[in-house]
Amino acid sequence: MMIKNLRLQNFRNYEDELVQFVPGTNILVGDNGQGKTNVIEGIYYILTGKSYRVQREQELLRWNQSEFHLFGDFLLSHHKVSLESHYRDKKKIVKVNKVPCQRLSDFVGTINVIFFSPDDLIIIKGGPTERRRFLDLHIAQIRPGHVSLLNAYNKVIQQKSALLKSYVERSLKYSQLQLWNQQIIELGVKIIRNRVDLTKRLQVVADNIYGNLTSHKEILQVVYLALGKKDIAEAISEFPQLLNDKLELEMERQMVLIGPHRDDLQILLNDKPARLYASQGQQRSLVLTLKLAELELIREEKGEYPLLLLDDVLSELDIFRRDYLIKFIESSNIQTLITMTSAETHLKAGALYHVEQGHIRRKQ
Ligand SMILES: Nc1ncnc2c1ncn2[C@@H]1O[C@H](COP(=O)(O)OP(=O)(O)OP(=O)(O)O)[C@@H](O)[C@H]1O
Ligand SMILES: [Mg+2]
Repeated sequence: MMIKNLRLQNFRNYEDELVQFVPGTNILVGDNGQGKTNVIEGIYYILTGKSYRVQREQELLRWNQSEFHLFGDFLLSHHKVSLESHYRDKKKIVKVNKVPCQRLSDFVGTINVIFFSPDDLIIIKGGPTERRRFLDLHIAQIRPGHVSLLNAYNKVIQQKSALLKSYVERSLKYSQLQLWNQQIIELGVKIIRNRVDLTKRLQVVADNIYGNLTSHKEILQVVYLALGKKDIAEAISEFPQLLNDKLELEMERQMVLIGPHRDDLQILLNDKPARLYASQGQQRSLVLTLKLAELELIREEKGEYPLLLLDDVLSELDIFRRDYLIKFIESSNIQTLITMTSAETHLKAGALYHVEQGHIRRKQ
């Protein structure tokens, strides 16, 4: 998969800028605050319909403007796909090959992207929500149905929460809660299975990458904890009972206390939780490994590597790990866009761009 060009109109600090990309490594160099990350964000947005930095599109609008446009041409199995994202008056319109797309989920995942920035350390350091999000975003790229499944599940959770908080006669409340619980089981088991399946595949690929990255001195393990249990078959068979056991407490606390919306992905370094024991550099390496493992899994699934967007990551890695990443990028056929504040001499650029005050000029 490849991006051929991107046009940003009134997006962040870009007024109207067109940039052509090449296969292989595209390096964006510029001082702080010039617009490097904004380009990466634009590509991520046009491919996923979301920004990874902000919740509201309003913040993506160039100051004092009322609409933004992103246009991009991509190659997917040698076919050209043109995408357009238009935002105005709190509404977004997506076009694929100039045809409006009714539901965003219909096109998300067509062209895959892996994004990695220093903020991704949150996958290790943050709470379970961040790790579930990491898994769900990946699954959504290969199984578009996962997004609808999550939406349906979250609606049931919202409705059950509303019921827990409402003034309904106790026995009636109890029987209605049982009905929601049935749906939680039905949808929740599917979510758990998708996440477990991905975790197992991640483990195999990540183990190999992390071994190479650390000269086999450290061991990485990822384990999905479903309903607090490592044994997934047991968790699924006990799900109805676990829900029943929690009902009283849920009524008391007025919260839905059990289900895949509270699950976690354990990331272990040498058998210990990385969140608590891994050093800063080890945490970076763990996330890098998970991202590279995602790349491989998408290639296995789709037969092509996704785009790789690396925002400001080289400066965060030590020489050995940086070299590993550079070799990985150079030896594979992955189109990579990488930002940095000064040109990295070891990295061979397919194209080098200079970014300054919302203008992008190709230098090499
Ligand atoms: N909505 C917006 N409208 C106009 N300008 C914006 C908007 N949002 C951010 N900016 C400007 O964009 C610039 C930041 O761009 P970006 O985050 O891409 O910088 P960068 O080149 O990645 O810098 P760094 O090296 O510090 O990461 C800032 O100057 C900021 O003021
Ligand atoms: Mg930046």
